[in-house]
Amino acid sequence: MSKVDFDEYVNEYEKLLNKNLSFFSRDDSYFCKYKADLMAEYSKNKPKKILEFGAGIGRNIPFIKQIFPESEISAYDVSQKSLDYLSSKYPYVKVIREFGQQENEFDLIFCSVVYHHIAVSQRNSITKSIYRAMKSGGEFFVFEHNPVNPVTRKLVERCPYDEDAVLISPKELKEMAKEAGFNSFLTRYYLYFPPVLKISFIERFFRYIPLGGQYMLKAKKS
Ligand SMILES: C[S@@+](CC[C@H](N)C(=O)[O-])C[C@H]1O[C@@H](n2cnc3c(N)ncnc32)[C@H](O)[C@@H]1O
Repeated sequence: MSKVDFDEYVNEYEKLLNKNLSFFSRDDSYFCKYKADLMAEYSKNKPKKILEFGAGIGRNIPFIKQIFPESEISAYDVSQKSLDYLSSKYPYVKVIREFGQQENEFDLIFCSVVYHHIAVSQRNSITKSIYRAMKSGGEFFVFEHNPVNPVTRKLVERCPYDEDAVLISPKELKEMAKEAGFNSFLTRYYLYFPPVLKISFIERFFRYIPLGGQYMLKAKKS
């Protein structure tokens, strides 16, 4: 299966995302804010240095800036054109063009819907590099599509930039993170009800039920 090159989607990414997800929320920033709010709620640290791994065109960045205004924010992605776009839009972000050599640098690293695009054969070594890049006491947050949710699977099937997607279950992700050295795991499920129903506030009562459209795994480097 050939890899999707996100350099080709820089201009179209938001339009396609909107098209795919508008049935759930017309405001596509809903998803970014949701993840930032989850990190605000579950992070125990005041992170000095944050890295978004696989930041794309930076859709999460303003929401991260809002919840962690004092933090230095860095962004890495394999798509250099996405990083060009991100850096012109958010000049306060430190752009990282190559990843793998960083050690004990970040207090918080997060990945939002990235793992399912990483070649299966590379996932272990990338997770280990992320572990190395993290300071001791640092927190790793991963947001992923939930493979057991049928609506999620349908959406992934019909999304052009998900052509190379191989979904990863929370169990697989946790095992991988454990092997890399992480511990203290926590998994939560979200995206059950479209915001238009105005009952999204009850989602928190469903967070332990493994059926949401997406899930969050939090892990720690002790
Ligand atoms: C669906 S986009 C998500 C972008 C962003 N995290 C967001 O939530 O909007 C997936 C991103 O993962 C990046 N990606 C895929 N494989 C990667 C890898 N091995 N290392 C870093 N980034 C990768 C892609 O270039 C793309 O920008």
